[in-house]
Amino acid sequence: MSYPRKHLLAIEGLEPPHIADLLDLAESYALLNRSGKTQRDLLKGRTLINLFFEDSTRTRTSFELAGKRLGADVINMSVSTSSVNKGETLLDTASTLNAMHCDLLVVRHGQSGAPSLLSQKVDAAVINAGDGTHEHPTQALLDALTIRRHKGRLEGLVVAICGDIAHSRVARSNMHLLTTMGSRVRVVGPPTLIPAEAARLGVEVFHDMKAGLAGADVVMMLRLQRERMSGGLVPSAREFFRFYGLDAEKLAHAKPESIVMHPGPMNRGVEIDSAIADHPTRSVIGEQVEMGVACRMAVLDVLSRQLPRNR
Ligand code: CP
Repeated sequence: MSYPRKHLLAIEGLEPPHIADLLDLAESYALLNRSGKTQRDLLKGRTLINLFFEDSTRTRTSFELAGKRLGADVINMSVSTSSVNKGETLLDTASTLNAMHCDLLVVRHGQSGAPSLLSQKVDAAVINAGDGTHEHPTQALLDALTIRRHKGRLEGLVVAICGDIAHSRVARSNMHLLTTMGSRVRVVGPPTLIPAEAARLGVEVFHDMKAGLAGADVVMMLRLQRERMSGGLVPSAREFFRFYGLDAEKLAHAKPESIVMHPGPMNRGVEIDSAIADHPTRSVIGEQVEMGVACRMAVLDVLSRQLPRNR
């Protein structure tokens, strides 16, 4: 297993063998999870703390499940009832957790770069669970694993990432991962929601859904992140759905065997029609969640192997 770092802060900078090895290990955990077996000794005696400064359902729960399945002591720190509310800084909070000899620190924060800053101050291995508009590396890993399970490969696939690209850390991590692994990535959305850096990242830009979806193997929809928008970047939810919401008519432009993905949480009727989100053969949204547990087990596995014992 080749993984060159102490932390997982971003997909950017990882080489194809690092990503492929992580996905292979995650695949073995996916099979183990489906068989009902666990591997409770690997993280025995290790402490994992989930430190989430932003809301989460999937990521926090799956890190908890992944840690417990590997035998770690898992603590979900409730930021809303912590001393952060009394003015304690991010770094002082981290130093406090460090003094308790936490081994693995899973951090979600509204500021891009916050997990990276923490990683310079604590002894624990830090995992970025989503920072601002920067990256969400384990989401990209679970997306890639889901795609690979359905298509058998990543190289050469046409992947259309649609909607609010500008505010999406999921899009950014996926653009890095998929281009690194040889996929042909398109971003599709209104000009106000496509970041200027898209061209630099080696992706094709489309403002028309039907053109962007034409011949796609994978259609990845994203949530409109109104909480990160400073102004009216889209006219209304109804207008957005008309031009950029995925429905049967627009999906018909992708390959007939294409799969539909969404990282969640979904806004039904805004970026995706319910009939597509719940489609029994095209939608793989539930499987993405399942693969999230397997990928997080793989990440905890590789990072913990590099940690000293008896800290
Ligand atoms: N995809 C994702 O990060 O979901 P949560 O916000 O529920 O963790």
